[in-house]
Amino acid sequence: MSANTITLNRNSDQLPDDGRPVWLFGYGSLIYKAGFDYLETRTATIQGWKRRFWQGSHDHRGTPERPGRVVTLIGDEQASCTGLAYRVTPDVFEQLDVREKNGYLRLVRPLLLADGEAIDGLVYIATEDNAAYLGPAHEAEIARHVLLSRGPSGPNSEYVLELARALREMGVEDPHVFAIEHHLRLLLDEDHKQSYSSIQSPEVQ
Ligand code: BEZ
Repeated sequence: MSANTITLNRNSDQLPDDGRPVWLFGYGSLIYKAGFDYLETRTATIQGWKRRFWQGSHDHRGTPERPGRVVTLIGDEQASCTGLAYRVTPDVFEQLDVREKNGYLRLVRPLLLADGEAIDGLVYIATEDNAAYLGPAHEAEIARHVLLSRGPSGPNSEYVLELARALREMGVEDPHVFAIEHHLRLLLDEDHKQSYSSIQSPEVQ
């Protein structure tokens, strides 16, 4: 499947014609930066899926030559993923389908709101057959990749640190995200020490 999913998502007939609000599930950048108007937001969980930094980002946190790494959901019957559900009007998807075009399909999936209410919501998922998919790697390796990536939306490291901060603030435990954050902080510290020592003792030109 091509990485550009705008047309596929626009042609799906999931959105009500009469402007009725729908639920949208966010598990990545949508948690820390919605960037659209919404009617309400609630903590929500999607069962049977896990959050993984396995999707390439050519257009936000990397470039086509050096894609960054961002999250997608991977099916796993034993797992669940907690994020934020937003109640939004369908016009929100005009911009969101463009923002999340790099391999993400907009799908309808069952969600559980924090108070136990079961709803159907829309969720963007980048499946393994999309051209921007990078797949699994060791968390330390993902952190090294993130450290070196940057795109039009900023450094890839900001995405990881902001997502980890937002999850912690919500009280969500996500060992995969926190392990990458841990390795990344070590690498950022090393980088900082190296650039500090080169300022202290610059090489004589
Ligand atoms: C999200 O934050 O839920 C999200 C993740 C990937 C693509 C689109 C949205």
